[in-house]
Amino acid sequence: MNPSVLVFDSGVGGLSVLQQIRKRSPGLTLNYLMDSAAFPYGIKRDEVLVKRVLDVCQAAVDELSPGVLVIACNTASTLALPALREVLNIPVVGVVPAIKTAASHCSSGHIGLLATPATVNRSYTDDLIRDFAGHCQVSRFGSSELVRWAEEWLLNDEPSAQRQAQLREHLKSWIEHNSNTVPAMSHVVLGCTHFPLLREQLEQLWPHIHWVDSGEAIARRVASLLPGSEELSSKGALNCYWTDRHQVPQGAINYLSALSDVINQGCLGPDFVIQDIESV
Ligand code: DGL
Repeated sequence: MNPSVLVFDSGVGGLSVLQQIRKRSPGLTLNYLMDSAAFPYGIKRDEVLVKRVLDVCQAAVDELSPGVLVIACNTASTLALPALREVLNIPVVGVVPAIKTAASHCSSGHIGLLATPATVNRSYTDDLIRDFAGHCQVSRFGSSELVRWAEEWLLNDEPSAQRQAQLREHLKSWIEHNSNTVPAMSHVVLGCTHFPLLREQLEQLWPHIHWVDSGEAIARRVASLLPGSEELSSKGALNCYWTDRHQVPQGAINYLSALSDVINQGCLGPDFVIQDIESV
């Protein structure tokens, strides 16, 4: 059997990372798990979120036995990676804002960070900026609206003009203000895995900005942890799991089905459903 990777996020965002892994190593079996019962992560308290991520990931690893776990969520990775690596005995790949990449490509000396409210305020993010973008001005924007829209738009076929208008309204003053300062903001890090799903619209609205995400780098890292995975001859299976037993995440299933047949899908066992999600 081909080696398997578990790709984890709160919702559909991690699909933007899964898609890059699929492109680089089509032979890997990919299990996509979304913690839909606790979505969204970006506005939850840190203590609650660490416990939640540990509980769900530990249970999923026990159930699916992947060779590698990818935390395809900046909000969870910037908080819970050390704790996850302590309890799990497989490699855990985190997805964190691509500040280093953006800062190294940005000649203007001004980059933007677009992420969840939690990620823009994390000390992990401060450290990334201090270590890799000390020579740059960094403008941050936290948004939970973009997370919600990425979820909704994967499911509904709204006319794209309407989506463009919504996005323009939401980001216009931040982007225009920073594009008109000296130095001008030339690169924006998509520091939430939901946001590359909006890339096409963002590129159309603001073509002068370089939009930077971590997807390809993560796919390279996964391939390096599973030597030979890029050369596997048979196509790996795609499986989709979630934690909210009351709702089938049709948007995610549609997205995966476009990549290949989704072999298994379902709520990953009743123990996964956190009964008191209101208290999260
Ligand atoms: N996709 C996630 C991230 O990369 C989190 C979105 C959310 O649940 O708020 O940060």
